[in-house]
Amino acid sequence: MTGFASCPGIVIITLITSLISIPVKAEIWTNEISDVQYGRIGSNVTLLCSASRNGSAVEWRLNGTRVASSFAVLQNGNLILTNSDSTMEGNYSCHDKKGQLLRATALRLGYGPALLRIHCIAANYYSICCSWEQNVKTFLPTEYISTFRHASKASETCHQDFFRTNVCTIKNPKNWHSSYVVNITEVNPLGSTFTLSRIQFLDIVKPDPPERVSAEAVHGSPRRLRMYWEYPATWPKESSFPLRFQVQYKPMESRSWSVVEATHLTTELTDVLAGHFHIIQVRAMDLLGNGNWSEWSTEIKALPWLEPTPKPEESESSTQSHTENTDHSSTSESKVESEEQYEKLALLVSLGSLGGVFLALLAFFTILIWVRHKGKEETSKQELTSMMKMKSLPM
Ligand SMILES: *[C@@H]1O[C@H](CO)[C@@H](O)[C@H](O)[C@H]1NC(C)=O
Ligand SMILES: *[C@@H]1O[C@H](CO)[C@@H](O)[C@H](O)[C@H]1NC(C)=O
Ligand SMILES: *[C@@H]1O[C@H](CO)[C@@H](O)[C@H](O)[C@H]1NC(C)=O
Ligand SMILES: *[C@@H]1O[C@H](CO)[C@@H](O)[C@H](O)[C@H]1NC(C)=O
Ligand SMILES: *[C@@H]1O[C@H](CO)[C@@H](O)[C@H](O)[C@H]1NC(C)=O
Ligand SMILES: *[C@@H]1O[C@H](CO)[C@@H](O)[C@H](O)[C@H]1NC(C)=O
Repeated sequence: MTGFASCPGIVIITLITSLISIPVKAEIWTNEISDVQYGRIGSNVTLLCSASRNGSAVEWRLNGTRVASSFAVLQNGNLILTNSDSTMEGNYSCHDKKGQLLRATALRLGYGPALLRIHCIAANYYSICCSWEQNVKTFLPTEYISTFRHASKASETCHQDFFRTNVCTIKNPKNWHSSYVVNITEVNPLGSTFTLSRIQFLDIVKPDPPERVSAEAVHGSPRRLRMYWEYPATWPKESSFPLRFQVQYKPMESRSWSVVEATHLTTELTDVLAGHFHIIQVRAMDLLGNGNWSEWSTEIKALPWLEPTPKPEESESSTQSHTENTDHSSTSESKVESEEQYEKLALLVSLGSLGGVFLALLAFFTILIWVRHKGKEETSKQELTSMMKMKSLPM
């Protein structure tokens, strides 16, 4: 599925109801002017030495070294590569008896276009995103022509993504109830082939997963978690197509999920396992029931409210939600608290020692500055007295 993850944030699903292929062209493109010649792997490829006259001997080189005769046959100065394979790619050059270059060609080998796998999906009611993959890797430069038609209308352009050549978008599909036929034509130097895919709009509706999913403990309720999330950014909130949601959750150690439905952007889980971290995910679906559920949102972790331990001085902690990764999911609260105490103590000790070092440094520098200052004063005093002495000397 990885190759299809090209529509933003979507893993794509579609029904391909029809697939038709008509090979349009299938011959070797030999362009005399261009330096590149394309050939089909497995076929006999003929390389022409344009200046070859009959009778006059020519020499062929591949990447600068003489072509072995086991590799190919010479015919009227032309080189024929039998049963070509990808190891025969490279720069071919044809030289006369004196070694003068007559013609140089870069040979690239691959396959002609074949049927594509097309997947279309609608992350909302206002666009259809189609993407496609090669069933056969062609190894050759490839372009795509993407069109679509619905009902008996003329075909229109499916707008291709500038950066990803295997994605196109149908903007504002006009009729949600009719079917669309998407036509993707693959073109490469060995020919072109088109693939058709028939889609029913309402079948391919699949929202992106809900976003900003969060959970918080409910104070005083060790078996409850309150959940919040938002519409996926790709699903217009103001649209007349609301979403419904499912929340699945389980204690971290557990295998089986519990599921609850929701139609709003919040819900309260009422039967979570007290004192345990839970894994929670949310997914969305068109409220009208068209299409599929979204993928699940990425997992979040949450801990329900913990009852304070009997120890009187250590209450009032861990009442808040914990959504960060924590390992001591099954350890008791008192252990967590004593760990916290240790951390505080360690922090104090390190702060104290840091302060000591700082004070010592401060004292050292103060003494240093004082000593230097004193020294300067001394010298300037000496200078002054000597100058006065000199002045008082009779010139
Ligand atoms: C390729 O050339 C070989 C030897 O000349 C011949 O036997 C074979 O039939 C040719 N293959 C094709 C596909 O033309
Ligand atoms: C060489 O070319 C001449 C005409 O230019 C032709 O009559 C002759 O048959 C050719 N010889 C070969 C071996 O192809
Ligand atoms: C093949 O030709 C191209 C273009 O002339 C050149 O850049 C490249 O280095 C050549 N490769 C080899 C292996 O000779
Ligand atoms: C010729 O050089 C190309 C790179 O330009 C390389 O990919 C190819 O494998 C070389 N062919 C041979 C037969 O060494
Ligand atoms: C699909 O598109 C190609 C290229 O635009 C075109 O040649 C072909 O006729 C189309 N096929 C159908 C069935 O519309
Ligand atoms: C999407 O829904 C269709 C039917 O509406 C179903 O056949 C298909 O398996 C679903 N795909 C996924 C990935 O759930």
